[in-house]
Amino acid sequence: MSSGTESTASTSESLDRQAVRTYFGEAYPAVESFAARLRDEGEVRGLIGPRELDRIWDRHILNSAAVVPFLPESGLIADVGSGAGLPGVVVAAMRPRATVYLIEPMERRCAWLAEIVADLGLTNVEIKRGRAEEYHDAFECDIVTSRAVAALDKLARISLPLLRPGGEMIVLKGRNVSKEIDPARKVLRRLKGSQPEVIDASTVPGVESTTVVRIVRQTGAR
Ligand SMILES: C[S@@+](CC[C@H](N)C(=O)[O-])C[C@H]1O[C@@H](n2cnc3c(N)ncnc32)[C@H](O)[C@@H]1O
Repeated sequence: MSSGTESTASTSESLDRQAVRTYFGEAYPAVESFAARLRDEGEVRGLIGPRELDRIWDRHILNSAAVVPFLPESGLIADVGSGAGLPGVVVAAMRPRATVYLIEPMERRCAWLAEIVADLGLTNVEIKRGRAEEYHDAFECDIVTSRAVAALDKLARISLPLLRPGGEMIVLKGRNVSKEIDPARKVLRRLKGSQPEVIDASTVPGVESTTVVRIVRQTGAR
């Protein structure tokens, strides 16, 4: 694993570095290396925009970490549309006893993910190249996470069939997610998704909270 330089230098100034270390605990070295690589290579590799470089910790790493309290310690977690590895790589580092599938169709993003997984020494990750829909009959997950992939109706359509009955979608969304809920009702009914629960999720002091949406795939769904 490359330790990188102290990438917390790129956090917003209000960020309490000790609070960040404490929050990540044993996962901190891996997460720190991931943040350093995103900062150094993210723009040139087309993973994040230039304006994001100074906000990697609060906008991306900590934002991704906000899903973790909603995840089990073990089991099978799939991150749909991992892209740069958000939130999937952060989840894998913070949930070492879970198996994490990173589902991503773009070859160059999968190549990046493979490098990151090797570099961070994450032994609990499998990269699944392809669209989520291609895996609907391939496995059953306990949890499907996602961030910035699609509106809730499409997200439910591609994510719910990946879940075992009783499994959960844990989705990072923007504040105006309530507008996506009505258009998603039909597909949620059809695929036995529960009423979405919208949760305000915090990580460390000084970092804006984010919105997490939880949808359970109800039993009797298959
Ligand atoms: C805007 S990016 C977000 C990436 C990452 N989750 C993040 O928050 O930075 C959306 C990602 O979803 C992927 N994607 C789009 N449709 C998908 C699908 N049907 N199944 C899996 N991934 C998909 C894209 O290739 C892209 O990498």
